[in-house]
Amino acid sequence: MTMPTPQCPWRMQVHHIRQETPDVWTLSLLCHDFYPYQAGQYALVSIRNRADVLRAYTISSTPGVSPFITLTVRRIHEGEGSNWLTREVKRGDYLWLSDAQGEFICADKATECFLLLAGGCGVTPIMSMRRWLAKYRPQADVRVIYNVRTPQDVIFAEEWRDYPVTLIAESAGVPGFTEGRLTREILQQVPDLAARTVMTCGPAPYMAFIEQEVKALGVTRFYKEKFFTPVAEAAASGLKFTTITPAREFYGPVGTTLLEAMESNKVPVNAACRAGVCGCCKTRVLSGEYSVTSTMTLTEAEMAEGYVLACSCHPESDLVLA
Ligand code: FES
Repeated sequence: MTMPTPQCPWRMQVHHIRQETPDVWTLSLLCHDFYPYQAGQYALVSIRNRADVLRAYTISSTPGVSPFITLTVRRIHEGEGSNWLTREVKRGDYLWLSDAQGEFICADKATECFLLLAGGCGVTPIMSMRRWLAKYRPQADVRVIYNVRTPQDVIFAEEWRDYPVTLIAESAGVPGFTEGRLTREILQQVPDLAARTVMTCGPAPYMAFIEQEVKALGVTRFYKEKFFTPVAEAAASGLKFTTITPAREFYGPVGTTLLEAMESNKVPVNAACRAGVCGCCKTRVLSGEYSVTSTMTLTEAEMAEGYVLACSCHPESDLVLA
């Protein structure tokens, strides 16, 4: 089997697949070589072993603890990657993964006091780090708050019995859950909150609420996982974007990234890492003002031709795209 793209050089075989919740599955993978990664990181997966369709998934396993490399995937309606992984991939099949990526990790945090908050499928890096902390920093004081829609949506339900966790479900009605949503009052009940390193992963509004609340409550060390970006509604005004082929105009609000503007208007664009690392979202800008926060995968010649990484491109005027 040949490597579909140099970005995904790690061949892994599916050992088994386990259903976690009605719409989430964990794929356990065998890698015959040593695969270096840190708890909390993600990898790109070549979907259908194609070079041009890469998707990012958190590695939900924990180095030095888990026997397999695992990906925990929510099946998203019309999601090409998640439907392939959760419907078609079978035991014995091979997947191709990138190097592990991302900076949402706990191993580099010189602290013994954590609050980890997860919303929905954002629990995957949180569980990876929770196991890591239990094994490598057993003396650490770690609190976890996990928000789900209903009790049956708890991912890693059995494993959470090993760790103290506050479970919050929008509709609960069973013991062990707080019913409702995360509130400032719940955060205030966390002992020594201001002294904790707070790490969160989940939908963007959930993370924004936590950031605002914990900072107001004195937290100074706050980290969130950035690549769970829901697609926004298409804007009807703001900066104007024009594509040449096909000829089209669309809008994005000031402050948006080029990727967000394209995705919200259903302009075809590949995106995986959303952090200027993988190079998937390479797009050519013909004219207009913009700044960039990453050019990591671009050559000098490509930049001179106006190529940008759309996820790391911040438009400052109307743009014309190739
Ligand atoms: S999505 Fe990876 S570089 Fe933009």
